[in-house]
Amino acid sequence: MSAETSLPFYKPLIAREEIAQLVEAVESGWLTTGPKTLEFEGAIARYVGSPFAVGVNSCTAAMHLALVAMGIGPGDVVLTSPITFPATANVIEHCGARPVFIDVEPDTLLLDVAALGAFLEAPERQGIDPDKVKAILPVHFTGQPCDMDRIFALASHHGLAVIEDSAHALGAEFKGFKVGGDYGLGFQGPWASCFSFYATKNITAGEGGMLTTNDAELVDQVAVLRLHGISRDAWKRYQVAGYQHYEVLSPGYKYNMFDLQAALALPQLSHLDDWQRRRETYTELYNRGFADIEGLQPLQVKPNRRSAYHLYVVMADSAQLGLSRDELLNRIAAEGIGVGVHFRSLTVQKFYREKYGFQGGDFPVAERVSEQVLSLPLYPAMHESDVERVIRTVRKVLGL
Ligand SMILES: Cc1ncc(COP(=O)(O)O)c(C=O)c1O
Repeated sequence: MSAETSLPFYKPLIAREEIAQLVEAVESGWLTTGPKTLEFEGAIARYVGSPFAVGVNSCTAAMHLALVAMGIGPGDVVLTSPITFPATANVIEHCGARPVFIDVEPDTLLLDVAALGAFLEAPERQGIDPDKVKAILPVHFTGQPCDMDRIFALASHHGLAVIEDSAHALGAEFKGFKVGGDYGLGFQGPWASCFSFYATKNITAGEGGMLTTNDAELVDQVAVLRLHGISRDAWKRYQVAGYQHYEVLSPGYKYNMFDLQAALALPQLSHLDDWQRRRETYTELYNRGFADIEGLQPLQVKPNRRSAYHLYVVMADSAQLGLSRDELLNRIAAEGIGVGVHFRSLTVQKFYREKYGFQGGDFPVAERVSEQVLSLPLYPAMHESDVERVIRTVRKVLGL
């Protein structure tokens, strides 16, 4: 173990302002969904340039509610990426629908839109009934937006809904438009973008999520579904004179964001742009620090896109490095530096592999990178000297 203090994989920047807002919210006596949640929803909607935002308790909840509100149900098919967190596909399963995975591009690890287009030309070739294909669920992996031009074009052409997994992507831009708005593309189908405020995310509520959309009807449905499917939430019922009975409109969920989450996350929004620039600077430092190492391949960011730089992921080629990714991870961790793996393909995970009978070679890129990806610390609470230390450590454990 190194004599230096350890550098965690992630540490949030919680300052006085966040703590003051949290205390204020606690002292207000209103702890559940209320004015702070409403304020945070408004702030996120303005930030991403979307007319509507609904606060929920996770990105998982936001994606699940989007699917439910769009009527995705048993037997339906949703197309998504295998290089993602389990939640992305789990919520499709929760609806009784089937996730159909499309392989990723080797340089960005984003959903391969050429493969997506080819699949949509003839789903029956893969044993899928074309009428059952209902939605595309692209994942803005590490904070880089997918090719939304082509995804919306394919969705329009085939009459599909689009649900964006934007868990990593608050602050990211596609052609100058923030993820969470409609990118000025005027997509007419059902559409929603789903964000996470989980502990490690670019701004955090500890746990939390938000759904944005330009669809007023969808937003009303999601707002009802997030709180038991009842017609008015508690805060609104207290706002009017006289006792208000609620009506159960559908069997909804317990997915509401509460005010303490909103109070913690809201002040961080004013730092997000600065934090994103810092993340970008550190990413460039890493890329330069590893540029001469053939066996370490950084992800590429495509033109016309600005990543949120949520994660720093490199692909480690064991043949070129002379050691496996896991051995490299262990050696870096032994030097007191936090590391992660984002992500091993869902197609190699027990549940999905067994349920859908995936064989080695079905998803060549996703399978290969499952053995290669490793994530190094990237967050604004780090200093440049921390990044330099990580670079030095990686080089040292590789014998360079
Ligand atoms: C790509 C991706 N999607 C969805 C989620 C789920 O987010 P949450 O924990 O807010 O439900 C995560 C969480 O890390 C994620 O990385």
